[in-house]
Amino acid sequence: MNICVVGSGYVGLVTGVCLADFGMHVVGVDKDRAKVEALSRGKVPIYEPGLETLVQKNMEEGRLRFTTELGPAIEEAQAVFIAVGTPPKSDGSADLTFIREVAASIAQHLNGYKIIVTKSTVPIGTGQMIEAIVREGAGSRHKFAVVSNPEFLREGSAIEDFMHPDRVVIGTRDPRAAELMMDVYSPLAAADVPFITTDVETAELIKYASNGFLATKISFINEVAEICEACGANVEVVSKGMGLDNRIGPKFLSAGPGFGGSCFPKDTRAAAQIARDQGLKFRIIEAVLEVNEATQKRMIAKIEDALGETTGKTLAVLGLSFKPNTDDLRESPALPIVQGLLDRGATVRAFDPEAMEGCKPLFPTLTYCENAYEAAEGADALVIITEWNQFRKLELDRLYELLRQPLVIDLRNLYDPDKMAAAGFRYVSIGRPEGVPETRPTAVIEPVRAARGRS
Ligand SMILES: NC(=O)c1ccc[n+]([C@@H]2O[C@H](COP(=O)([O-])OP(=O)(O)OC[C@H]3O[C@@H](n4cnc5c(N)ncnc54)[C@H](O)[C@@H]3O)[C@@H](O)[C@H]2O)c1
Repeated sequence: MNICVVGSGYVGLVTGVCLADFGMHVVGVDKDRAKVEALSRGKVPIYEPGLETLVQKNMEEGRLRFTTELGPAIEEAQAVFIAVGTPPKSDGSADLTFIREVAASIAQHLNGYKIIVTKSTVPIGTGQMIEAIVREGAGSRHKFAVVSNPEFLREGSAIEDFMHPDRVVIGTRDPRAAELMMDVYSPLAAADVPFITTDVETAELIKYASNGFLATKISFINEVAEICEACGANVEVVSKGMGLDNRIGPKFLSAGPGFGGSCFPKDTRAAAQIARDQGLKFRIIEAVLEVNEATQKRMIAKIEDALGETTGKTLAVLGLSFKPNTDDLRESPALPIVQGLLDRGATVRAFDPEAMEGCKPLFPTLTYCENAYEAAEGADALVIITEWNQFRKLELDRLYELLRQPLVIDLRNLYDPDKMAAAGFRYVSIGRPEGVPETRPTAVIEPVRAARGRS
């Protein structure tokens, strides 16, 4: 099957290369000429583990190419996947300008039955909007069907997520389109991935409801962490105790500096706006957003409290991307935290394995370092913001020597407070008591006894 994927960003590129790897012929289209030129040379302009190798393999095997020419790519394709950005507008709702542009181009180049598949995260009613644009532009010359196929991949493990999803959601009213979609995803069906086939609106809402729920778990545990700090409890143990309950599950229960990235903040704001458009209030989501903003502010206060005075202090910041294994800085919690520290008169020495180039235009006054140790040199405190694996096993003796004072503020709870205290550090983390050198009794997690009832 010939497939055209419009938009070669995180989602479009991963979708295109994975579908090519399934054996389909894929043309990736992007209006960014520099991006297309780089991709045509096999160079992937974003950092995503395994992506470049898979792009090169599928290009060499003749199933994947890139172009800026949307018209011919649409004409050749049986399925057009839309994976352009849907950035937030000032009221929080999704900006659908790029989606409309693509729909208008499809209308112009419709030359036979095609399925138009929305991979981008779009509000309820967008499928109908695309249908109206294409119908108006193309008239009744050719039949087409609109499909909602929201994407759930996570940056940093995007290929793995695309190839082994928890589920595939297909929203369409057209049985022929549903059949074609099942054909596209047949390798996943063969691997027993569950499929949900539903209408367009339900599929669109599944994506917002899922991201809203995950963001809720994060804000929930961040509030629990604040309560732990006030009463001397340990959020790590609370979250473990909660997560062992199958009804809750352990994921997205790590306390930290608040959620960021290109999806959760944007999608939760859009979900709140979707409810408002229906004359409703998505109260939980509004609270989730409020807590997230407060959490980021609380991190700045935490650093300030630990330092005593921020003005004139030098801070070594480890991690700028919104999560590990990506260079994506969009809505990274590191950005407001770094800005808050600069506003309070601090100097920042930063290190991130992949996100420093993107950060330079945003924060030209930071000192960008080669590694964590260079950042720590002469700093009044080390602040860990993103949980890159390489920050989990820092050489503590070396850090102790390099820092002006042995203060570590860990916004990701990567270290054991008692071990840090034993190594001579004042160690401030999230929702956990500061350590003491002698080991205190910690929670013993008993194996779950199958026979015991849960309440
Ligand atoms: N990034 C994620 O982790 C993720 C996960 C799931 C869903 N999504 C959703 O997928 C969509 C895309 O996200 P992304 O992170 O890949 O965005 P992105 O900004 O990385 O990529 C979008 C690409 O679309 C291109 N583009 C815009 N208009 C175009 C047009 N008219 N013709 C051709 N190309 C055009 C841009 O140049 C850009 O390269 C968004 O709706 C997002 O919410 C993202």
